[in-house]
Amino acid sequence: MTFSSRSVQAAGQPVSELMAEALAHPELISLAAGFVDQETLPVEITARAQQAAFANQDAARASLQYSNPQGLNELRDALLRQSCQWDDSGIPDQVSNENVVTTPGSNQLLYMLANILLDPGDIIICGSPTYFIFIGIVKNVGGETYGVAIDQHGMIPESLDDALSMLKKRGDLARVKAIYLVPYFDNPAGSTLTKERAGEIHEIANRYSEHNKIYVVTDEAYRLLDFNQTAQPSLWAGDRNLNHTIVVGTFSKSYSPGIRVGWGILPPELITPVNDVKGNIDFGSPNINQYIMYEVLRNGWLQEHVSKLCDHYQQKQNAMLDALDEHMSTIDHCSWWNPGGGMYVWLTLPEIIDSAFDKPLYQATKQAGAMYVPGHYCFPKQGEPVQHNTIRLSFGQQTPAKIAEGVKCLAMAVNSVLSIA
Ligand SMILES: Cc1ncc(COP(=O)(O)O)c(C=O)c1O
Repeated sequence: MTFSSRSVQAAGQPVSELMAEALAHPELISLAAGFVDQETLPVEITARAQQAAFANQDAARASLQYSNPQGLNELRDALLRQSCQWDDSGIPDQVSNENVVTTPGSNQLLYMLANILLDPGDIIICGSPTYFIFIGIVKNVGGETYGVAIDQHGMIPESLDDALSMLKKRGDLARVKAIYLVPYFDNPAGSTLTKERAGEIHEIANRYSEHNKIYVVTDEAYRLLDFNQTAQPSLWAGDRNLNHTIVVGTFSKSYSPGIRVGWGILPPELITPVNDVKGNIDFGSPNINQYIMYEVLRNGWLQEHVSKLCDHYQQKQNAMLDALDEHMSTIDHCSWWNPGGGMYVWLTLPEIIDSAFDKPLYQATKQAGAMYVPGHYCFPKQGEPVQHNTIRLSFGQQTPAKIAEGVKCLAMAVNSVLSIA
Protein backbone atom coordinates (compact mmCIF):
# COMPACT_ATOMS: atom_id res chain seq x y z
CA MET A 1 0.00 0.00 0.00
CA THR A 2 1.42 3.43 -0.88
CA PHE A 3 0.10 6.41 1.03
CA SER A 4 0.72 10.12 0.42
CA SER A 5 3.97 11.79 1.41
CA ARG A 6 1.97 13.80 3.98
CA SER A 7 0.90 10.57 5.61
CA VAL A 8 4.51 9.39 5.75
CA GLN A 9 5.53 12.74 7.21
CA ALA A 10 2.90 12.34 9.95
CA ALA A 11 4.41 9.05 11.10
CA GLY A 12 6.52 8.58 14.23
CA GLN A 13 4.60 10.93 16.51
CA PRO A 14 6.06 10.98 20.04
CA VAL A 15 2.56 11.28 21.48
CA SER A 16 1.68 7.73 20.33
CA GLU A 17 4.88 6.39 21.87
CA LEU A 18 4.25 8.28 25.12
CA MET A 19 0.61 7.15 25.33
CA ALA A 20 1.57 3.53 24.65
CA GLU A 21 4.19 3.69 27.38
CA ALA A 22 1.72 5.20 29.88
CA LEU A 23 -0.98 2.61 29.04
CA ALA A 24 1.52 -0.23 29.37
CA HIS A 25 2.51 0.87 32.89
CA PRO A 26 -0.53 2.02 34.88
CA GLU A 27 1.28 1.01 38.08
CA LEU A 28 3.92 3.77 37.68
CA ILE A 29 3.64 7.33 38.99
CA SER A 30 3.38 9.25 35.75
CA LEU A 31 5.03 12.64 35.80
CA ALA A 32 4.75 12.46 32.01
CA ALA A 33 1.19 13.12 30.88
CA GLY A 34 0.12 16.71 30.21
CA PHE A 35 -3.36 15.86 31.52
CA VAL A 36 -5.21 18.34 33.70
CA ASP A 37 -6.22 17.28 37.21
CA GLN A 38 -9.27 15.00 37.10
CA GLU A 39 -10.54 16.22 40.51
CA THR A 40 -10.74 19.86 39.44
CA LEU A 41 -12.74 19.36 36.24
CA PRO A 42 -15.71 21.79 36.41
CA VAL A 43 -18.66 19.37 36.52
CA GLU A 44 -21.14 21.63 38.38
CA ILE A 45 -20.27 24.78 36.42
CA THR A 46 -20.66 22.94 33.13
CA ALA A 47 -24.06 21.53 34.19
CA ARG A 48 -25.18 25.05 35.17
CA ALA A 49 -23.88 26.50 31.90
CA GLN A 50 -25.67 23.88 29.86
CA GLN A 51 -28.91 24.60 31.71
CA ALA A 52 -28.45 28.30 30.98
CA ALA A 53 -27.76 27.57 27.30
CA PHE A 54 -30.97 25.50 27.18
CA ALA A 55 -32.99 28.21 28.97
CA ASN A 56 -35.59 28.19 26.20
CA GLN A 57 -36.49 25.90 23.30
CA ASP A 58 -35.21 28.28 20.62
CA ALA A 59 -31.79 28.70 22.24
CA ALA A 60 -31.53 24.96 22.88
CA ARG A 61 -32.40 24.12 19.28
CA ALA A 62 -29.98 26.74 17.96
CA SER A 63 -27.17 25.16 19.96
CA LEU A 64 -27.99 21.74 18.51
CA GLN A 65 -27.96 23.02 14.92
CA TYR A 66 -25.09 23.74 12.50
CA SER A 67 -24.01 27.35 12.82
CA ASN A 68 -21.59 30.00 11.56
CA PRO A 69 -18.42 28.09 10.54
CA GLN A 70 -16.29 30.88 12.03
CA GLY A 71 -17.91 30.38 15.43
CA LEU A 72 -20.67 31.68 17.71
CA ASN A 73 -20.82 35.49 17.47
CA GLU A 74 -21.40 36.14 21.18
CA LEU A 75 -18.53 33.85 22.14
CA ARG A 76 -16.18 35.49 19.62
CA ASP A 77 -17.08 38.91 21.11
CA ALA A 78 -16.38 37.63 24.62
CA LEU A 79 -13.07 36.07 23.58
CA LEU A 80 -11.96 39.31 21.99
CA ARG A 81 -12.84 41.31 25.11
CA GLN A 82 -11.00 38.80 27.29
CA SER A 83 -7.92 38.79 25.09
CA CYS A 84 -7.31 42.54 24.86
CA GLN A 85 -7.55 43.51 28.50
CA TRP A 86 -4.20 45.29 28.58
CA ASP A 87 -5.18 48.83 29.56
CA ASP A 88 -8.12 51.23 29.27
CA SER A 89 -7.90 51.55 25.51
CA GLY A 90 -10.02 48.43 24.88
CA ILE A 91 -10.51 46.76 21.51
CA PRO A 92 -8.52 48.53 18.76
CA ASP A 93 -10.66 50.16 16.03
CA GLN A 94 -9.30 47.94 13.26
CA VAL A 95 -10.13 44.72 15.12
CA SER A 96 -13.56 43.10 15.58
CA ASN A 97 -15.06 39.66 16.10
CA GLU A 98 -14.46 39.17 12.35
CA ASN A 99 -10.82 38.54 13.31
CA VAL A 100 -11.85 35.74 15.69
CA VAL A 101 -12.41 32.10 14.79
CA THR A 102 -13.35 29.29 17.18
CA THR A 103 -11.85 25.83 16.74
CA PRO A 104 -12.33 22.46 18.47
CA GLY A 105 -9.22 22.96 20.63
CA SER A 106 -6.26 25.06 19.61
CA ASN A 107 -4.45 22.19 17.96
CA GLN A 108 -6.79 22.40 14.96
CA LEU A 109 -5.84 26.04 14.46
CA LEU A 110 -2.12 25.20 14.70
CA TYR A 111 -2.66 22.52 12.06
CA MET A 112 -4.61 24.88 9.79
CA LEU A 113 -1.94 27.58 10.16
CA ALA A 114 0.81 25.14 9.19
CA ASN A 115 -1.21 24.22 6.09
CA ILE A 116 -1.85 27.84 5.18
CA LEU A 117 1.61 29.29 5.85
CA LEU A 118 3.94 26.50 4.73
CA ASP A 119 5.02 24.93 1.49
CA PRO A 120 7.38 21.96 1.73
CA GLY A 121 10.80 23.12 2.94
CA ASP A 122 9.45 26.29 4.61
CA ILE A 123 10.62 27.07 8.11
CA ILE A 124 8.98 27.97 11.43
CA ILE A 125 11.25 29.22 14.17
CA CYS A 126 10.46 27.76 17.61
CA GLY A 127 11.93 27.75 21.08
CA SER A 128 14.48 25.05 21.74
CA PRO A 129 12.72 23.25 23.45
CA THR A 130 9.10 23.78 22.32
CA TYR A 131 5.63 22.11 22.31
CA PHE A 132 6.50 18.79 20.68
CA ILE A 133 3.12 18.29 18.99
CA PHE A 134 3.76 21.47 17.02
CA ILE A 135 7.07 20.06 15.73
CA GLY A 136 5.05 17.09 14.39
CA ILE A 137 2.42 19.35 12.81
CA VAL A 138 5.07 21.28 10.87
CA LYS A 139 6.76 18.05 9.77
CA ASN A 140 3.38 16.66 8.68
CA VAL A 141 3.00 19.38 6.02
CA GLY A 142 6.63 19.05 4.88
CA GLY A 143 7.89 22.11 6.77
CA GLU A 144 10.87 22.39 9.10
CA THR A 145 11.25 23.70 12.63
CA TYR A 146 14.34 25.68 13.56
CA GLY A 147 15.20 25.94 17.27
CA VAL A 148 16.30 29.14 19.01
CA ALA A 149 17.66 29.19 22.57
CA ILE A 150 15.29 29.93 25.45
CA ASP A 151 15.78 30.42 29.17
CA GLN A 152 13.45 30.98 32.11
CA HIS A 153 12.31 34.26 30.48
CA GLY A 154 11.36 32.75 27.13
CA MET A 155 12.97 33.02 23.71
CA ILE A 156 16.26 34.94 23.75
CA PRO A 157 15.99 37.81 21.23
CA GLU A 158 19.75 37.90 20.48
CA SER A 159 19.64 34.19 19.58
CA LEU A 160 16.59 34.82 17.39
CA ASP A 161 18.41 37.65 15.63
CA ASP A 162 21.50 35.43 15.12
CA ALA A 163 19.36 32.59 13.74
CA LEU A 164 17.56 34.85 11.25
CA SER A 165 20.83 36.47 10.21
CA MET A 166 22.33 33.01 9.61
CA LEU A 167 19.26 31.86 7.64
CA LYS A 168 19.50 35.04 5.57
CA LYS A 169 23.20 34.40 4.79
CA ARG A 170 22.28 30.83 3.87
CA GLY A 171 19.70 32.20 1.39
CA ASP A 172 16.78 30.75 3.37
CA LEU A 173 15.16 33.91 4.76
CA ALA A 174 12.31 33.77 2.22
CA ARG A 175 11.50 30.31 3.62
CA VAL A 176 10.91 31.61 7.16
CA LYS A 177 7.16 32.05 7.60
CA ALA A 178 6.65 32.41 11.34
CA ILE A 179 8.08 32.50 14.84
CA TYR A 180 6.11 30.21 17.16
CA LEU A 181 6.02 31.15 20.85
CA VAL A 182 4.33 29.67 23.91
CA PRO A 183 4.89 32.83 25.94
CA TYR A 184 3.26 31.94 29.26
CA PHE A 185 4.39 29.05 31.52
CA ASP A 186 5.25 27.13 28.40
CA ASN A 187 5.04 23.49 27.52
CA PRO A 188 7.58 21.97 28.12
CA ALA A 189 9.94 24.38 29.93
CA GLY A 190 7.63 26.47 32.14
CA SER A 191 9.27 29.66 30.84
CA THR A 192 7.44 33.00 30.55
CA LEU A 193 8.44 35.65 28.05
CA THR A 194 9.19 39.08 29.53
CA LYS A 195 7.49 42.20 28.14
CA GLU A 196 10.86 43.57 27.04
CA ARG A 197 11.72 40.42 25.10
CA ALA A 198 8.24 40.36 23.52
CA GLY A 199 8.86 43.89 22.20
CA GLU A 200 12.25 42.88 20.80
CA ILE A 201 10.76 39.81 19.11
CA HIS A 202 8.10 41.95 17.40
CA GLU A 203 10.86 44.30 16.19
CA ILE A 204 13.02 41.42 14.89
CA ALA A 205 10.05 39.80 13.09
CA ASN A 206 9.33 43.12 11.34
CA ARG A 207 12.98 43.76 10.48
CA TYR A 208 13.45 40.38 8.81
CA SER A 209 10.10 40.49 6.96
CA GLU A 210 11.99 41.36 3.76
CA HIS A 211 10.55 38.79 1.36
CA ASN A 212 7.30 37.99 3.11
CA LYS A 213 5.66 38.73 6.42
CA ILE A 214 7.16 36.71 9.28
CA TYR A 215 4.24 36.06 11.60
CA VAL A 216 4.55 35.81 15.38
CA VAL A 217 2.28 32.99 16.58
CA THR A 218 1.47 33.40 20.28
CA ASP A 219 0.11 30.12 21.66
CA GLU A 220 -1.52 31.20 24.92
CA ALA A 221 -2.59 27.76 26.18
CA TYR A 222 -1.32 28.33 29.76
CA ARG A 223 -1.88 32.09 30.05
CA LEU A 224 -4.56 31.87 32.74
CA LEU A 225 -2.66 29.32 34.84
CA ASP A 226 -0.72 32.12 36.51
CA PHE A 227 -0.32 31.25 40.19
CA ASN A 228 0.22 34.91 41.09
CA GLN A 229 -2.93 35.85 39.12
CA THR A 230 -1.21 38.87 37.61
CA ALA A 231 -3.40 38.99 34.45
CA GLN A 232 -0.61 38.64 31.89
CA PRO A 233 -1.24 40.93 28.90
CA SER A 234 -1.48 39.20 25.54
CA LEU A 235 1.50 39.49 23.23
CA TRP A 236 -0.63 41.33 20.69
CA ALA A 237 -0.53 44.30 23.08
CA GLY A 238 2.71 45.03 21.19
CA ASP A 239 0.99 44.74 17.77
CA ARG A 240 -2.53 46.02 18.38
CA ASN A 241 -3.57 46.28 14.76
CA LEU A 242 -2.68 42.63 14.29
CA ASN A 243 -0.12 43.39 11.62
CA HIS A 244 1.74 40.11 12.11
CA THR A 245 0.56 38.55 15.41
CA ILE A 246 -1.59 35.41 15.40
CA VAL A 247 -3.15 34.63 18.78
CA VAL A 248 -3.92 30.96 19.49
CA GLY A 249 -6.00 30.20 22.60
CA THR A 250 -7.79 27.31 24.28
CA PHE A 251 -9.94 26.48 27.31
CA SER A 252 -8.27 23.05 27.56
CA LYS A 253 -5.95 23.91 30.44
CA SER A 254 -7.93 26.66 32.19
CA TYR A 255 -11.31 24.88 32.05
CA SER A 256 -11.61 21.48 30.37
CA PRO A 257 -9.82 19.71 27.52
CA GLY A 258 -12.95 17.62 26.86
CA ILE A 259 -15.03 20.70 26.01
CA ARG A 260 -12.76 21.16 22.93
CA VAL A 261 -13.12 24.92 22.57
CA GLY A 262 -10.16 26.89 21.27
CA TRP A 263 -9.85 30.08 19.24
CA GLY A 264 -7.68 32.25 17.06
CA ILE A 265 -7.40 36.03 16.69
CA LEU A 266 -6.09 36.59 13.20
CA PRO A 267 -4.55 39.33 11.08
CA PRO A 268 -7.13 40.38 8.43
CA GLU A 269 -5.50 38.62 5.47
CA LEU A 270 -5.63 35.25 7.29
CA ILE A 271 -9.38 35.28 8.01
CA THR A 272 -10.46 34.03 4.57
CA PRO A 273 -7.77 31.33 4.23
CA VAL A 274 -8.59 29.97 7.72
CA ASN A 275 -12.33 29.96 6.94
CA ASP A 276 -11.65 28.23 3.61
CA VAL A 277 -9.60 25.45 5.21
CA LYS A 278 -12.09 25.13 8.06
CA GLY A 279 -14.88 24.88 5.51
CA ASN A 280 -13.15 21.81 4.15
CA ILE A 281 -12.50 20.26 7.55
CA ASP A 282 -15.69 20.65 9.58
CA PHE A 283 -17.60 23.81 8.58
CA GLY A 284 -17.84 24.83 12.22
CA SER A 285 -16.66 23.76 15.68
CA PRO A 286 -19.08 21.89 18.01
CA ASN A 287 -21.84 24.42 18.45
CA ILE A 288 -23.29 23.30 21.77
CA ASN A 289 -19.85 23.48 23.41
CA GLN A 290 -19.48 27.08 22.26
CA TYR A 291 -22.85 27.96 23.82
CA ILE A 292 -21.72 26.37 27.07
CA MET A 293 -18.41 28.26 27.10
CA TYR A 294 -20.24 31.48 26.31
CA GLU A 295 -22.41 31.01 29.42
CA VAL A 296 -19.31 30.17 31.49
CA LEU A 297 -17.67 33.43 30.42
CA ARG A 298 -20.82 35.59 30.57
CA ASN A 299 -21.56 34.59 34.16
CA GLY A 300 -18.02 35.09 35.43
CA TRP A 301 -17.68 31.36 36.18
CA LEU A 302 -14.35 31.03 34.38
CA GLN A 303 -12.54 33.44 36.73
CA GLU A 304 -14.09 31.66 39.71
CA HIS A 305 -12.84 28.31 38.42
CA VAL A 306 -9.39 29.55 37.38
CA SER A 307 -8.68 31.06 40.76
CA LYS A 308 -9.46 27.71 42.48
CA LEU A 309 -7.42 25.88 39.85
CA CYS A 310 -4.40 28.10 40.38
CA ASP A 311 -4.44 27.48 44.17
CA HIS A 312 -4.69 23.77 43.52
CA TYR A 313 -1.89 23.62 40.94
CA GLN A 314 0.34 25.85 43.01
CA GLN A 315 0.28 23.25 45.79
CA LYS A 316 1.28 20.58 43.30
CA GLN A 317 4.01 22.73 41.79
CA ASN A 318 5.35 23.43 45.29
CA ALA A 319 5.34 19.70 46.07
CA MET A 320 7.44 19.11 42.96
CA LEU A 321 9.87 21.96 43.66
CA ASP A 322 10.25 20.92 47.32
CA ALA A 323 10.95 17.32 46.29
CA LEU A 324 13.49 18.46 43.69
CA ASP A 325 15.19 20.59 46.36
CA GLU A 326 15.23 17.71 48.79
CA HIS A 327 16.41 14.97 46.43
CA MET A 328 18.18 16.57 43.48
CA SER A 329 19.90 19.72 44.75
CA THR A 330 22.79 17.66 46.10
CA ILE A 331 23.46 16.14 42.64
CA ASP A 332 25.98 18.24 40.67
CA HIS A 333 24.82 19.84 37.39
CA CYS A 334 21.11 19.32 37.96
CA SER A 335 19.06 22.46 37.42
CA TRP A 336 15.45 23.69 37.11
CA TRP A 337 13.50 26.88 37.73
CA ASN A 338 10.24 27.79 39.40
CA PRO A 339 7.75 28.27 36.55
CA GLY A 340 5.18 30.13 38.72
CA GLY A 341 2.32 28.73 36.61
CA GLY A 342 1.30 26.19 34.01
CA MET A 343 1.82 22.47 34.52
CA TYR A 344 5.48 21.68 33.89
CA VAL A 345 8.97 21.79 35.39
CA TRP A 346 11.92 21.41 33.02
CA LEU A 347 14.81 19.47 34.49
CA THR A 348 18.38 19.52 33.17
CA LEU A 349 20.63 16.66 34.30
CA PRO A 350 24.42 16.16 34.09
CA GLU A 351 25.47 16.01 30.43
CA ILE A 352 26.57 12.39 30.58
CA ILE A 353 22.97 11.30 31.22
CA ASP A 354 20.67 10.57 28.28
CA SER A 355 16.99 10.54 29.31
CA ALA A 356 15.64 8.62 26.25
CA PHE A 357 13.32 5.60 26.67
CA ASP A 358 16.00 3.10 25.62
CA LYS A 359 18.71 4.49 27.92
CA PRO A 360 19.57 3.41 31.49
CA LEU A 361 17.99 6.40 33.27
CA TYR A 362 14.50 5.74 31.94
CA GLN A 363 14.73 2.05 32.73
CA ALA A 364 16.02 2.78 36.26
CA THR A 365 13.24 5.36 36.84
CA LYS A 366 10.62 2.82 35.79
CA GLN A 367 12.12 0.23 38.11
CA ALA A 368 11.99 2.76 40.94
CA GLY A 369 8.30 3.37 40.15
CA ALA A 370 7.92 6.53 38.05
CA MET A 371 7.95 7.83 34.46
CA TYR A 372 8.62 11.13 32.66
CA VAL A 373 8.81 12.66 29.16
CA PRO A 374 12.36 12.51 27.73
CA GLY A 375 13.29 16.08 26.76
CA HIS A 376 14.72 15.24 23.33
CA TYR A 377 11.21 15.05 21.83
CA CYS A 378 10.83 18.79 22.38
CA PHE A 379 13.78 19.96 20.27
CA PRO A 380 13.43 21.15 16.67
CA LYS A 381 15.64 19.25 14.25
CA GLN A 382 17.58 22.33 13.08
CA GLY A 383 19.19 25.16 15.03
CA GLU A 384 20.17 24.72 18.68
CA PRO A 385 21.47 21.22 19.42
CA VAL A 386 19.19 18.66 21.07
CA GLN A 387 19.81 18.40 24.82
CA HIS A 388 19.51 14.70 25.57
CA ASN A 389 20.05 15.31 29.28
CA THR A 390 16.66 17.01 29.80
CA ILE A 391 13.28 15.89 31.13
CA ARG A 392 9.78 17.35 31.15
CA LEU A 393 8.04 16.78 34.49
CA SER A 394 4.32 17.40 34.75
CA PHE A 395 2.62 18.20 38.05
CA GLY A 396 -0.89 18.34 36.51
CA GLN A 397 -2.25 14.91 37.21
CA GLN A 398 -0.75 13.43 40.39
CA THR A 399 -1.47 14.33 44.03
CA PRO A 400 1.23 16.29 45.93
CA ALA A 401 2.18 13.08 47.80
CA LYS A 402 2.56 11.10 44.56
CA ILE A 403 4.53 13.95 42.98
CA ALA A 404 6.97 13.90 45.90
CA GLU A 405 7.29 10.12 45.66
CA GLY A 406 7.76 10.25 41.86
CA VAL A 407 10.56 12.81 42.12
CA LYS A 408 12.22 10.68 44.80
CA CYS A 409 12.13 7.68 42.42
CA LEU A 410 13.69 9.80 39.68
CA ALA A 411 16.47 11.05 41.99
CA MET A 412 17.25 7.47 43.04
CA ALA A 413 17.51 6.52 39.36
CA VAL A 414 19.78 9.49 38.56
CA ASN A 415 22.06 8.57 41.46
CA SER A 416 22.21 4.93 40.42
CA VAL A 417 23.04 5.80 36.79
CA LEU A 418 25.73 8.27 37.90
CA SER A 419 27.25 5.71 40.28
CA ILE A 420 28.05 3.36 37.38
CA ALA A 421 28.87 6.02 34.73
C1 LIG B 1 1.35 24.68 24.13
C2 LIG B 1 0.11 23.96 23.75
N1 LIG B 1 -0.60 24.42 22.72
C3 LIG B 1 -1.72 23.81 22.30
C4 LIG B 1 -2.19 22.68 22.94
C5 LIG B 1 -3.42 22.00 22.39
O1 LIG B 1 -4.49 22.08 23.20
P1 LIG B 1 -6.00 21.83 22.71
O2 LIG B 1 -6.00 21.33 21.31
O3 LIG B 1 -6.53 20.84 23.68
O4 LIG B 1 -6.65 23.16 22.79
C6 LIG B 1 -1.49 22.16 24.04
C7 LIG B 1 -1.92 20.92 24.70
O5 LIG B 1 -1.27 20.33 25.51
C8 LIG B 1 -0.30 22.82 24.44
O6 LIG B 1 0.43 22.38 25.48
